[in-house]
Amino acid sequence: MTEPRVVVFTCNWSAYSALETAGSKRLAYPTSVRPIRVMCLGRLHPGLVLKAFESGADGVLLLGCPPDECHYEFGNRRAEELFQETKALAHLLGIEDERLKLDWIEAGEGEAFVQKVTEFYRQVVDGSH
Ligand code: FES
Repeated sequence: MTEPRVVVFTCNWSAYSALETAGSKRLAYPTSVRPIRVMCLGRLHPGLVLKAFESGADGVLLLGCPPDECHYEFGNRRAEELFQETKALAHLLGIEDERLKLDWIEAGEGEAFVQKVTEFYRQVVDGSH
């Protein structure tokens, strides 16, 4: 695999804020990473995540607010459920576990955003060998 395509679903609050901070500090992460902003990870649907794979993503990372910090109260609990549902469906479709990940990030943590995205990117690269 030359350059894996990685989609990062960010919630509109903590995760997107971290992405914006990374951008304002001009912190670099792999250029083939494509962020997609949603209001809350709890609003995602397994079909949408699988659509990203169907459209050519090699890996999909879901980044949301830390537990108990979701702006919609139960959003990250719902995100955990949908992650498990999606993982089960992805498994049936032959998508390896290392190509799908759910993680949390604090608002404004630009360095952590770059670190999490880059680590996931490397995980996808390593899994492809
Ligand atoms: Fe960030 Fe719900 S608003 S996970």
